[in-house]
Amino acid sequence: MSESSASLPEGAAADWTVPQDWARYTPAEHAMWDRLFARQAAMLPGRVTPEFLAGLDLLRMDRPGIPDFEALSARLMAATGWQVVAVPGLVPDAVFFDHLANRRFVAGRFIRRPDQLDYLEEPDVFHDVFGHVPLLANPMFADYMQAYGRGGQRAGGLGAIERLSRLYWYTVEFGLIAGPDGLRLYGSGIVSSFGESMFALDDPSPNRIGFDLKRIMRTRYRIDDYQQSYFVIPSFEDLLRQTLETDFGPLYDAVEDMADLEPDAVLAGDRVFHLGTQARMRGG
Ligand SMILES: [Fe+2]
Repeated sequence: MSESSASLPEGAAADWTVPQDWARYTPAEHAMWDRLFARQAAMLPGRVTPEFLAGLDLLRMDRPGIPDFEALSARLMAATGWQVVAVPGLVPDAVFFDHLANRRFVAGRFIRRPDQLDYLEEPDVFHDVFGHVPLLANPMFADYMQAYGRGGQRAGGLGAIERLSRLYWYTVEFGLIAGPDGLRLYGSGIVSSFGESMFALDDPSPNRIGFDLKRIMRTRYRIDDYQQSYFVIPSFEDLLRQTLETDFGPLYDAVEDMADLEPDAVLAGDRVFHLGTQARMRGG
């Protein structure tokens, strides 16, 4: 995750990375990982896209304890050429894009406290590593993440970065995918959340709408609750192809002149998989 500006924390390298200091995790911290892992591992089969489970398996992430980024990166590097690097918190946009463009995923190293089991303001190692890393072992998704980083490097101006961040939000963080047996989860913000893994797939409240790049770039999102709309891609191949084939410059220009959309908006041109009741937002 990134933010528009911040100053380099003490002890961080020029690219904002820090050592993970794996040996410093306490038994209680490893136990917290195991608790979160067990809960999601029980929840996700049949709900998450099979590529995610294949990634967990390939990277041997079912081993107990918080993964050591060095060992994890060695396996990931062998699969798709990606690495996981530790950062102390949110990093500036340009730093974030540069890491992605070079196939480095930046991950928080701290783990949530027991009283933060279900809600966190900043992504921790469970969100970043359990949520994001398994799909980086998938060649299509790995290429999409790099393409996104390169898109960020080219985006320039803040308006374009805001629109590009909506693409990240509604795909990498909160995306759904249409599988042969129905919708499946793949967004890291969903798969690392016990509550949202159920809500995003089963609850009648949110909209589930077919992926449309330009439409997503116009759509605001919520950071304080579950999403009011989820967007459904047909496949990772399609997501990658659309991202590579789109000339983002003219797209930003076109979107610039159009009004932003509210998170619960449904348009006449949308391919609606499910029209949400929005009951959660209304407190129902
Ligand atoms: Fe994330």
